Amino acid sequence: MQKITATITSVGGYVPEFRLTNAILETMIDTNDEWIKSRTGIEERRILKGEGLATSDMAVPAVLEICKKRGIDPTEIDCMICATVTPDMVFPATANIICDKVGAINAWGFDLSAACSGFLFALTTGASLIESGRYKKVVIIGADKMSAIVDYTDRTTCIIFGDGAGAILLEPNTEGYGVMDSLLKSDGAGKNHLHMKGGGSLHPATLETIANKEHYIFQEGQPVFKAAVKNMAEAAFDLLERNNLTGEDINWLVPHQANKRIIDATASRIGLPIEKVMINIHRYGNTTAGTIPLCLWDWESQLHKGDNLILAAFGGGFTWGATLVKWGYDTAPTQEDSKA
Ligand code: UT7
Repeated sequence: MQKITATITSVGGYVPEFRLTNAILETMIDTNDEWIKSRTGIEERRILKGEGLATSDMAVPAVLEICKKRGIDPTEIDCMICATVTPDMVFPATANIICDKVGAINAWGFDLSAACSGFLFALTTGASLIESGRYKKVVIIGADKMSAIVDYTDRTTCIIFGDGAGAILLEPNTEGYGVMDSLLKSDGAGKNHLHMKGGGSLHPATLETIANKEHYIFQEGQPVFKAAVKNMAEAAFDLLERNNLTGEDINWLVPHQANKRIIDATASRIGLPIEKVMINIHRYGNTTAGTIPLCLWDWESQLHKGDNLILAAFGGGFTWGATLVKWGYDTAPTQEDSKA
């Protein structure tokens, strides 16, 4: 029997219209454009404005885009996994809400919580469903409305995060394209440096948790930065090594966009020139689970069949890892093309 791999066959994305620029942040908190740019590489981030809008409302256009490009109806989707730390509600899963909104009435779905590594964790999970032979069309979403959990009086976090969503479609392939290997890790001891304390079963919402600002992101930047530089770079390097590859075999590094300096360190560790690194942090900031699929969305037209991509992430948990993908198409094929 031929080995089934899970290949990406379509990419979609969505970023809200409103641009929260460094200049606007200068009017809100004690910061400046030069500090933000030199320490993070960020120039602006997108913010989802409007009453009644949530993470699912960004994921929906991303999912509809992948269906349109691939020429499929949402009813053909078997499973939907939504990586997010900003679900619409604690339950039901945002994936279920997205399925309902796009009309994916034949899909089952669930959310996956792994912060900035969420998309990689979901991609590997979804790839396993395809590789098992039981599922033919699995949608992986990375989406976060970070503005819902950011304290806009805290200059150490509010300059970093933005809102956005990306999605990909996974389908079976027997020609050796798609998700080749993944090296994923987590370490719960990292929770002390990056978390949101309130709103879970440990600290349910009370007037006190609100007064103590426990429903916002808490981050100790320095220890997170150090762990990110070390672990994201090492995961990418180790994954290449165990696949007998070097940076020279890689066409693109697709890194989580948390800090331009972390991205540079990862590229340098695997010996990749910066021209081969997808970087859009200056435009979107850190959209948590959204960063990697949004890179694929921005670069899709430049990707070629057979390109080797290394996806790498580090985030809250701590969680981190890298995934090796052999790109499967030059331009998004429609279902009619693949039948021909
Ligand atoms: O994606 C999830 C994982 N998260 C990450 O990977 C983020 C990792 N951490 C980082 O990217 C960086 O640590 C930050 C961007 C958050 C902070 O950069 P840093 O170079 O580590 O700065 P720092 O925290 O060491 O602060 C340096 C100085 C401090 O002032 P003093 O104590 O030296 O006088 C801060 O108070 O910069 C000050 N500072 C600011 N100044 C202007 C902190 N935030 C700001 C700000 N504007 N927004």
